[in-house]
Amino acid sequence: MRAKDIREKAGEEPITMLTAYDAPTAELVDAAGVDMILVGDSIGNLRLGYESTLPVTVDEIESATAAVARAAQDAMVLADMPFLSFGADEDEAVENCGRMLKEADADGVKLESGPHTVELTRRLTRIGVPVQAHLGLTPQRENETGLFRQGTDEEAARRIVDLAERHEDAGAFSLVLEHVPANVGAAVSEALDIPTIGIGAGPECDGQVLTVDEVIGLSEGVAPFSKAFGDVRGEMQDAISGYKDAVESGEFPAEEHSHYEEDVDDLY
Ligand code: KIV
Repeated sequence: MRAKDIREKAGEEPITMLTAYDAPTAELVDAAGVDMILVGDSIGNLRLGYESTLPVTVDEIESATAAVARAAQDAMVLADMPFLSFGADEDEAVENCGRMLKEADADGVKLESGPHTVELTRRLTRIGVPVQAHLGLTPQRENETGLFRQGTDEEAARRIVDLAERHEDAGAFSLVLEHVPANVGAAVSEALDIPTIGIGAGPECDGQVLTVDEVIGLSEGVAPFSKAFGDVRGEMQDAISGYKDAVESGEFPAEEHSHYEEDVDDLY
């Protein structure tokens, strides 16, 4: 899948997107036919033990993106640009984003967006780096805005619609809308031709995205707008305890897990 295929799907069928941070998970997400795989900076709090997404580095996203891209056959792979990898120096931002395509084999990048990313989106798109914009709750700004629902009054909702239109005009191929009221999700989707991908933004978006850890039930609890469709955490806990108990009781390794060589019998 390429940016153009995602654009063409808008309004035809719901678009699916999930995060993945490693090759085995990406292989399963891809095999399920999910349209886009986001190597989210949520890797920070979900997989790397950070308290937020802020400490995630360009190297960490690049390495995870390369692993995901090696495993994905059909899905579009997007690298989520981490905090301060863009937004300060524009040439450096272009270089960081370009690295994701050149060195990690991503098909595009996602930028947590604002007024400061309009021109960057235009520049990246012009040189062939597909950009997915991200408005509403943008966790990289949590120190400024908190992790609250965005766009809850008329002025804030208007600002989101206006910024969404400016990013579309700058060439973004799609737009993630995070944690906004469903009627704001519907208004933005109505205002844009490019697909909107909602996360806690209601059913009127052109597609939906969640973190894979929440979907498979690996994370401890889920956000109120998310849903666990499995219990991988429970399965992992059972398997790990089962292993420990079997070693301690002498049940593992059993005869079939061991092999012997006659030639080495003379060692003693
Ligand atoms: O980092 C992430 O996982 C995200 C989304 C869930 C949209 O940005």
